[in-house]
Amino acid sequence: MKNKYLHIITIGCQMNIYDSEQMAIRLKALGYNLIPFSERADLIIVNTCAIREKAEQKVFSLLGRLARLKKKNPGLILGVGGCVAQQEGKKLLQRVPCLDLVFGTHAAGRLPELVERIEQQGCRIVDIGMSDQKNSLESVLQYDQNINISKFVTIMQGCENFCTYCVVPYVRGKELSRKPEAIIREIKALVKSGAGEITLLGQNVNSYGKKEGISTFPELLASINRIEGLKRIRFTTSHPKDLSDELIECFANLDKLCKHIHLPVQSGSNRILRRMNRKYTREEYLEKIEKLREICPDIAVSTDLIAGFPGESKSDFEDTLELMKQVEYDSIFAFKYSDRPNAKAAGFSDKISENEKRTRLQRILKLQEGFTAQKNSSLVGLIQPVLVEGLSKKQDMDNQYDSNNNLQWTGRTSTNKIVNFFHDNDRKISDGSMSDRIYEGKLVDVKIKKALLHSLKGKLVVPEPRLSDKKGDNSYVA
Ligand code: SAH
Ligand code: SF4
Ligand code: F3S
Repeated sequence: MKNKYLHIITIGCQMNIYDSEQMAIRLKALGYNLIPFSERADLIIVNTCAIREKAEQKVFSLLGRLARLKKKNPGLILGVGGCVAQQEGKKLLQRVPCLDLVFGTHAAGRLPELVERIEQQGCRIVDIGMSDQKNSLESVLQYDQNINISKFVTIMQGCENFCTYCVVPYVRGKELSRKPEAIIREIKALVKSGAGEITLLGQNVNSYGKKEGISTFPELLASINRIEGLKRIRFTTSHPKDLSDELIECFANLDKLCKHIHLPVQSGSNRILRRMNRKYTREEYLEKIEKLREICPDIAVSTDLIAGFPGESKSDFEDTLELMKQVEYDSIFAFKYSDRPNAKAAGFSDKISENEKRTRLQRILKLQEGFTAQKNSSLVGLIQPVLVEGLSKKQDMDNQYDSNNNLQWTGRTSTNKIVNFFHDNDRKISDGSMSDRIYEGKLVDVKIKKALLHSLKGKLVVPEPRLSDKKGDNSYVA
C-alpha cells in the first residue's frame, strides 16, 4: 500500500478532539499516516465547531487558506467534518468549490469508505446521515505506545435538552449512551498504552444510560474506579438540573475521581435561566454547590457563563455577578451570546447590542480574575499530588530549565490546576538531550511555591525517584 499523509485540524470541544483521533485511527487502514501540517499532505480534514458564530467563521477563513494550498497541489483531498459540516451539508460543498468531502457528526465510521471513493472516482461527496447512529458510537481501539497521559473517552453522544441558545442538539442528534463494557474495554486499552487519566465526555453525563436502562453514571464511575493502573478520572459535563446526590457522593467515595466539577450555570438570574430553558433555579444551583462542598470541602468548581443573552437586563446581569461572588469559582469560561441557526433564542426579539455584550463579558472576566488569583495563592506552601504529563512544552527552550539547569515538568493537581515544577537533581544531561522521562505518568508530590494567573510553580518533594522506575510502574506513587 502506498504511504500517504493525513493532517487533521480540530476546532471545538473535547468531543471533537476524541473524534479526530478516531478518524486518524480509521484512516490508517487506508495507508494514511498522521502528520503535523505540511504541504506534502495527501488528505487534510478540518473537524469543525458550530457553537458560536466566531467558531464557524474560523472554519471559513481556514478553508480559504487551504484552497490556496490545493491550487498548488491539485491531488490534495480536502474534507470538512464535525458540527459545521452537519449543519451546512450540501451548502458547504457549494460555497467552497475546493472541497471534496463534507461529512457529519455520525459519519466518522464511514470515513474510510468515503475517502476511498474520492480516491478512486475523483467525486465530491456529502454524507450527513444520522440513520445508523448506533454504529457511529463504536470506537476503534488501536493506540500507539506512548500516547498522552491524559485521554478523553466519549461515553455518550447527542443532547436533548434544547437550551434555547444552543446548536448542539441539532448538530449532534439524539442522546445515546455507549455500553459500559465497551467504555471499560476502551479505558483498559488506553491504560495499557500508557494513559493515567481519563476524562469521560458527554453533553450531560448525568443522564448516562437512563434511556437505555443500562448502568447509571455513578455506577459506571464506580466500575471505572476499579480499573487497575488507572490513576485519575474526570468527567465533563454534568448539567446542574441532573446532578444527583449519588453523583455528589462519588466525590467522597471514589479515590480516583478528581476533586473538580465543571457545572455550567450560564446565568445567575432565574428569569434568564427560564428563558434559556435550563430547568433549574439559581437557588437549586447554589444548593447543589453547597452539597458538593459539604461532601468534598476542597473540591474545585468551574462554570460556563453567557453574557448578554436576549432580554438580559442590567439587574439580571447583576444577579450573575452576585452569584459568582457567592460561589467563588476556581475558573470560568465566559462567552458573549451568539445567535445560532435553529436555536430558539435566535428568534427572540430583545437582543443586546454587541457593545453591551462586550462590556458585560469584560466585567465577568475581571471579577473572576480576583477569585482565580485568590484560589491559586491559597495553594502556595501546600504539597499537592500532581499527575505528570511530561516535560513543559514552552516554546522558548530556555524556559525548560531553571537557573541550575534542571528540567521543568508539567502536570495537574486533582483540582485541575496546571503545575510547572523543577527537581533539583534532574540536570540536563551533558550532550544537551533530554534527561530520562522518569516522572511522566507518575503521581508525584509537588510543593507549590508561586501562584500565577493560569498556572502554579512548584518543586518536587519526596520520595526520591529510582531511575529504574518505568512509566506505568505504580511503585512510585505519592
Ligand atoms: N453541554 C454543555 C455545554 C456545551 S457548549 C452544558 O450543557 O453545559 C459549551 C458552552 O458554550 C455552554 O455551556 C455555553 O456557555 C456556551 N454556549 C453555547 N451556545 C452558545 C451561544 N449560542 N452563545 C454563546 N455561548 C454559547
Ligand atoms: Fe447545549 Fe444545553 Fe445540551 Fe449543553 S445541555 S449541549 S448547553 S442544549
Ligand atoms: Fe462545538 Fe460541536 Fe463541540 S458545536 S462545542 S464541536 S459538540
